[in-house]
Amino acid sequence: DKARFVYLLPNFQNPTGRTMTEERRAAVAQVAVECGLPIIEDNPYGDLWFDAPPAPSLSSRHPEGSVYLGSFSKILAPGLRLGYLVAPKALYPKLLQAKQAADLHTPSFNQRVVAEVLKDGFIDRHVPTIRALYKQQCEAMLAALDREMAGLGLSWNRPVGGMFLWVQLPQGLKAIPLLDKAVEKGVAFVPGSAFYAGAANESTLRLSFVTATVDQINTGMAALATAIRESL
Ligand SMILES: Cc1ncc(COP(=O)(O)O)c(C=O)c1O
Repeated sequence: DKARFVYLLPNFQNPTGRTMTEERRAAVAQVAVECGLPIIEDNPYGDLWFDAPPAPSLSSRHPEGSVYLGSFSKILAPGLRLGYLVAPKALYPKLLQAKQAADLHTPSFNQRVVAEVLKDGFIDRHVPTIRALYKQQCEAMLAALDREMAGLGLSWNRPVGGMFLWVQLPQGLKAIPLLDKAVEKGVAFVPGSAFYAGAANESTLRLSFVTATVDQINTGMAALATAIRESL
């Protein structure tokens, strides 16, 4: 059967923190245009870059065939439950129907609060502060991993933005049993198997570096290393 659409998360994706390269974006957009394949581009993390903004969106390369999803959850407050989309005009009646079927309406009060925050420049001042903070916390986590996990046989990526990094445990060490041990020592992570649509790599896990301080990150990575050492 022909695919109906493709869903992609090109920037600092959840769970891996990976970012799609410019070459891959161009290739995906070209195939989508050639095949008439609609793209759903989910971009809740795109503003959280560390040193440079990510490459241009997929939607900008295929505007008539894309739905771009944005969110205020990661840059303002998740509790507002406010996001937005950019889509071809012809889709509007169907999108309206789907939104009404899902929750009738996003609170007008929340929409007005966000409109003010956008208008008065708060977001423009706020986003650079969280970029700098998350970059510092990510660097602290990477340094702590280099220090604490040396010789244990783990590997991980170096995200250029977002909230997460992705860890490959040594062969045979599974993340779910490791979680119990880690929680006993005061540190938690999300086992990677939760994120697979098909057969899972059970020796993967997602670490978040955004809600913990540098001190907590250092303590947490040391505790995780102890849990791993005891499990090997
Ligand atoms: C892949 C993905 N899409 C979207 C969102 C944002 O969702 P919402 O705007 O409903 O908070 C998140 C946040 O958890 C996410 O990880």
